[in-house]
Amino acid sequence: MSIKRDIVVGTTVAEMHQIVAAARLHGSTVGCIPTMGYLHDGHASLIRAASAKHGLVVVSIFVNPTQFGPQEDFERYPRNLERDIHVVTNAGGSVVFAPTVEEMYPTGAQSTIHIPHISEILEGAVRPTHFDGVATVVSRLFEAMQPDEAFFGQKDLQQTLIIKHMVASSSIPEVGKVTVTVLPTQREPNGLARSSRNVYLSVKDHDDALVIYRALSVASHLARSGEYSKKALEQTMLNTLATVPAVTVEYAVAVEAETLQTKEFFQSGDEIAFLIAVTLGRTRLIDNMVVAVD
Ligand code: PAF
Repeated sequence: MSIKRDIVVGTTVAEMHQIVAAARLHGSTVGCIPTMGYLHDGHASLIRAASAKHGLVVVSIFVNPTQFGPQEDFERYPRNLERDIHVVTNAGGSVVFAPTVEEMYPTGAQSTIHIPHISEILEGAVRPTHFDGVATVVSRLFEAMQPDEAFFGQKDLQQTLIIKHMVASSSIPEVGKVTVTVLPTQREPNGLARSSRNVYLSVKDHDDALVIYRALSVASHLARSGEYSKKALEQTMLNTLATVPAVTVEYAVAVEAETLQTKEFFQSGDEIAFLIAVTLGRTRLIDNMVVAVD
């Protein structure tokens, strides 16, 4: 364990248990923000929200190998622990948990958590083992950090639903008791959702990527003005995305926000989630918006 500019940096589960036990002895509750590092303003806003509610705020920084497919960007995923420690400090976090792969998977990744159906659609259809890796590592991170509340961004909407299912079905007491809080996606002033992977984008890619926000905004506006047909809403996203030839669309869907199930026509009282995944050069980008229809 080391102490850097008032931030405690721990690398082992045993250290986390000690830190959390000491904080609880002093009456603190514990908030956590699981991350893969290369923190941006989106993460900082989660840390600030956690710091406003909890005496101890633990930010985990772990690029989790089990959620990357063999052809994906695990090796080149951006990493910079020193910079991340600054972000955590400035946002009011108290502890960084930066374990090694061996610490998180002492016997290898032998047992995994699979949440049926919702893990297999959309992102799960394109990245078949991704959500098993996410559910497994988040359960292990919760066991290590033992939080009362964990904070995630809405940008990874499907991930947040899977984590909620994982918590609800967990038989591990430290995991089953965690409250999962989802906060709105943080965007750049031009609308691009903040993501650690934005660092891969060239200036042109960055401009091209703005079409994702435009497509989501047009569909949300249409739904708010009374268009409830899934086909019409999806077509409007596809038409907007088609205005930028550099963008290859993987999916652009309108589904029920709670379940991600499809429905031909939405109705009053529904929450519609618009979800988009595209590739731009070698970079995959995802984003979403949720609209309540009245
Ligand atoms: O959203 C992320 O950064 C990761 O998927 C998470 C939740 C930290 C699990 O590795």
